[in-house]
Amino acid sequence: MIDLHSHLLPGIDDGSTSLQESLKMARIYEEAGYGQVVATPHWIAGTSWMPTPGEVRVQVASLNQRIKDEGINLSVLPGMEIALDPKIPPLLDEEKLQPLGQTSYVLIETPFQILPLGWEQIFFAIESRGYTVLLAHPERCAQLADKPMLFDGFIEKGIYLQINWASFLGYHGREAARLARYLAAKGYIHCLATDSHDADNRHAGHVQRAAREVENLVGPKNLQLLARENPTRVLGGEPLAPMSRQNLQDTPKSKQRWFFGHR
Ligand SMILES: [Fe+2]
Repeated sequence: MIDLHSHLLPGIDDGSTSLQESLKMARIYEEAGYGQVVATPHWIAGTSWMPTPGEVRVQVASLNQRIKDEGINLSVLPGMEIALDPKIPPLLDEEKLQPLGQTSYVLIETPFQILPLGWEQIFFAIESRGYTVLLAHPERCAQLADKPMLFDGFIEKGIYLQINWASFLGYHGREAARLARYLAAKGYIHCLATDSHDADNRHAGHVQRAAREVENLVGPKNLQLLARENPTRVLGGEPLAPMSRQNLQDTPKSKQRWFFGHR
């Protein structure tokens, strides 16, 4: 499996705090069945978290070497989780932001409260430069929880949605769990990722349990699409496939009504 969202680089953001912790996280990934992980440290304009692509790549190379030395079967690729900001399009022109691996996919962090004014123009400017937006954990945004119809616009604009596995287990609170289920029922999810931050709580060890929840909601074919097929397409630079409505219809009717009827 491939994880497209991970804070396993040591000492660069609020993720792993040491090389030892990063190696522990790498072992957890290996045990959970992952072969590739994209390191996506936070990039937030105007803060101390503004790594350059060069810095990320140097750290990734050094972590890969240590992972190999330890005999762990995992490869790490460079990426960033870029907080939504009007400065993103010009910085992409200057190659100051790191897309996911060698691709033109950019992982954009959804704000936890409200989207900045003019967010539609920011996404348009990013995509008109040939980049594709993968929106990280939109289920954790309060404004989107209040106005879930905004998701229709994301899907119409070709913005892809990455949901955190842990949201299905309630680890990000009741609202995020509710919204994750709403998006699953709408068929609006494109891929799932761990958003791992440490070796104690937020890591790949919960994925198997979350996968059972997701499978109950969307069926086994959609689970494969979100967990394996679409993440593979991202790293191949290919467009993503939408969830199959056919498999959603397998979801018991009573459940569907609850998901669609809520709000
Ligand atoms: Fe993250």
